[in-house]
Amino acid sequence: MLQLPPLSVYIHLPWCVAKCPYCDFNSHALQGQVPEQAYVDALLADLELELPRVWGRTVHSVFLGGGTPSLFSGQAIDRLLAGVRAQLNLAPGAEITMEANPGAVEHDRFESYRAAGVNRISLGVQSFDDLQLKKLGRIHGRAEARQAIEAVRGAGFDNFNIDLMWALPEQSVEQALDDVEQALSFEPPHLSHYQLTIEPNTVFAARPPALPEEELAWEMQEKCGDLLLGAGFQPYEISAWSRPGRESRHNLNYWRFGDYIGIGAGAHGKITLPAESRVVRLRRKLVPHSYLAAVENASFIAEQHDVSAEDLVFEYFLNRLRLAEAIPFAEFEALTGVAREQLQRPLEEATRLGLVSVDENQIHRTGRGHQYLNDLQGLFLPRGGSER
Ligand SMILES: C[S@@+](CC[C@H](N)C(=O)[O-])C[C@H]1O[C@@H](n2cnc3c(N)ncnc32)[C@H](O)[C@@H]1O
Ligand code: SF4
Repeated sequence: MLQLPPLSVYIHLPWCVAKCPYCDFNSHALQGQVPEQAYVDALLADLELELPRVWGRTVHSVFLGGGTPSLFSGQAIDRLLAGVRAQLNLAPGAEITMEANPGAVEHDRFESYRAAGVNRISLGVQSFDDLQLKKLGRIHGRAEARQAIEAVRGAGFDNFNIDLMWALPEQSVEQALDDVEQALSFEPPHLSHYQLTIEPNTVFAARPPALPEEELAWEMQEKCGDLLLGAGFQPYEISAWSRPGRESRHNLNYWRFGDYIGIGAGAHGKITLPAESRVVRLRRKLVPHSYLAAVENASFIAEQHDVSAEDLVFEYFLNRLRLAEAIPFAEFEALTGVAREQLQRPLEEATRLGLVSVDENQIHRTGRGHQYLNDLQGLFLPRGGSER
């Protein structure tokens, strides 16, 4: 029997100053001004149409992602969040995160975002090395990155995240360590540490840069990890490190297979409907221009489908195995509606390979399971490696 998980809201703001060569997010280089008035109108109209699917539910977190949300003025963010609050039941103290690019934050903007109700900033620093930033096509240098972090702190945000990437073109272990050290000097409560991946249909895919060899990348991960552990950070997810209690509540909800409303161009949503024994996935129109035009006939949704039981099992483990915390069988059953007995084959195989250990109540990912996460996740594929 399906049960309702916590609900969060993702809002996609799709414009950037320039498109970075490694990025495959639904983000578009801005031509002229951000149409913020029209876009906020569209977002709020979109949200209103979503309400019947989530009547009576409390929202635990909101995430303004992109793209570069910091291209929007404080006034626009204020109107957006006021609209969200008016339409939805936001839990007291709900986490409200906004992504910002150090190259696209006007003076005093952080104060206005805070006044609008944003209580967590996620800053896309990527590296503190000017040459690397240039190779990554970033619109900011080291100095702007440092100033932006100071501005976030100065505006009174005690909760913030720094995004760093590692295994960058021709990067040495020392350089990767230096980036982490510089980030730590600002005492962030949270650090996202992503290995640079070459995504299809990006400039880097067409003209791949020289990335560090696998062994060197492994050494970087190990040594950066040791540095972070030594500084009191916990790796609660594959790429997410935080001080105790400062995990991203919003991202935790994704990884724990919670529900989320997704509004804005290309945003994804997942909503559980227990009375109908269904889990629905939705996607909004991808192209900002089409999304904006959808306001005319209330047609924001481009795709909607029920998730099959088999896919629910795979998607649950795809997300959930990213987290370090153990997986209670009771949680699996509540969020997928599938009985634990259905897991016998993949779990036996995963145990045999040393990727998990299983007790009466929960599944534990082992160190090996962390290292070979893709293989572990693959065991839960419908008719996959395990012939479940
Ligand atoms: C949607 S971006 C948000 C921040 C903002 N747009 C910026 O770049 O400053 C989220 C983060 O994903 C990471 N990211 C994007 N593309 C990546 C890639 N190909 N490999 C690894 N990390 C990536 C970057 O660290 C980036 O800050
Ligand atoms: S600024 Fe962020 S979202 Fe925009 S293109 Fe660069 S990485 Fe992608």
